Amino acid sequence: MTDKEIDQETGTETTGHEWDGIKELDNPLPRWWLWVFYTSIVWSVVYWVLMPAWPAPPGLQGHTEGVVGNSERVNVAADMDALQASRSGLYGELQAAGSYQAIEADPVLFRFALAAGDSAFGNFCATCHGAGAQGFAGYPNLNDDDWLWGGTFDDIRHTLVVGIRADHPETRFSQMPAYGADGLLSREEIRQVRDYVLNLSGETGFDAAALEAGGEIFAAQCATCHGADGTGDPSQGAPNLTDAIWLYGSSPEQVETTIWRGPYGVMPAWEGRLDDPTITALATYVYSLGGGQSADTSEGAAGE
Ligand code: HEC
Ligand code: HEC
Repeated sequence: MTDKEIDQETGTETTGHEWDGIKELDNPLPRWWLWVFYTSIVWSVVYWVLMPAWPAPPGLQGHTEGVVGNSERVNVAADMDALQASRSGLYGELQAAGSYQAIEADPVLFRFALAAGDSAFGNFCATCHGAGAQGFAGYPNLNDDDWLWGGTFDDIRHTLVVGIRADHPETRFSQMPAYGADGLLSREEIRQVRDYVLNLSGETGFDAAALEAGGEIFAAQCATCHGADGTGDPSQGAPNLTDAIWLYGSSPEQVETTIWRGPYGVMPAWEGRLDDPTITALATYVYSLGGGQSADTSEGAAGE
């Protein structure tokens, strides 16, 4: 820097920078700005000392802890505990309630159970059963009142606890044979019994001789699980084959494949993964979706 250049108009020194004849004045920074600047520097030093701030040098784990020992992880854990404590009253009541009637009889508890069930359903069940519990091929729709393993509150709750073909020691279990893959029936016989099953659920236009042959195969092979009339057996998870509700699909090709391969639907067991009150809330929610089968139909009918 040689000579200082003074601007004629203002009498202020310039920085010496010039753009297209416009020069920059070297005014001091405003005082308020400087104060904010210095205060921020002091504040940041205080902050580094008090709070977790600096990452550890390369090769070391973690970060500086700060003298007040603040930790978001600890804060979240404390918030969760507080939340759990604020809910524990209603959760405790759910745990104690046991039956659907007892939960339904208490409007506050019932609303709580439905809300908690709805939210847990979104977290744990919707991936397989769909956000609206509408189901997909192989994953049952839980809105209808058609149940594989029984539709009372206790049946549903038990299904949730032990799962279906799951790793729980008391899991609900049954296994339909793979009639084609294991060579129990020929392709021809499988087509005959397929037509018979489709006819049971109301489809028509089949060859009478094939239907008769299919009926004989059904009585010999399938009736033990699906019932002589094909209406199913919830104690074995064997679906009703006479209605229009299909778990795996109703096209002739799909039904043939189902019989050929033998279906093997797996639903996880939730005991140990979810706590008791949450399972009760889920059972309440699912039971209310389906419309709800009474444990004792005669009593249910009288109550309605
Ligand atoms: C990994 C996929 C999967 C998840 C997650 C899952 N389910 Fe299932 N669920 C199934 C399958 C598959 C079946 C049918 C099993 C069968 O074929 O018997 C089933 C069956 C059921 C049944 C029995 C339906 C009947 O007709 O008897 C109920 C009730 C049920 N699920 C509720 C739930 C709830 C509540 C959750 C969340 C806690 C859940 N499921 C999570 C796959 C799943
Ligand atoms: C050991 C018991 C058992 C026997 C025997 C049995 N089934 Fe099944 N069947 C089941 C069970 C259990 C399911 C449901 C499996 C699942 O949910 O994954 C089923 C499912 C089906 C389905 C699927 C229904 C749907 O909604 O998609 C068809 C079709 C069917 N069986 C036909 C037959 C025919 C035909 C025979 C005889 C050739 C037969 N089953 C024999 C237990 C049996």
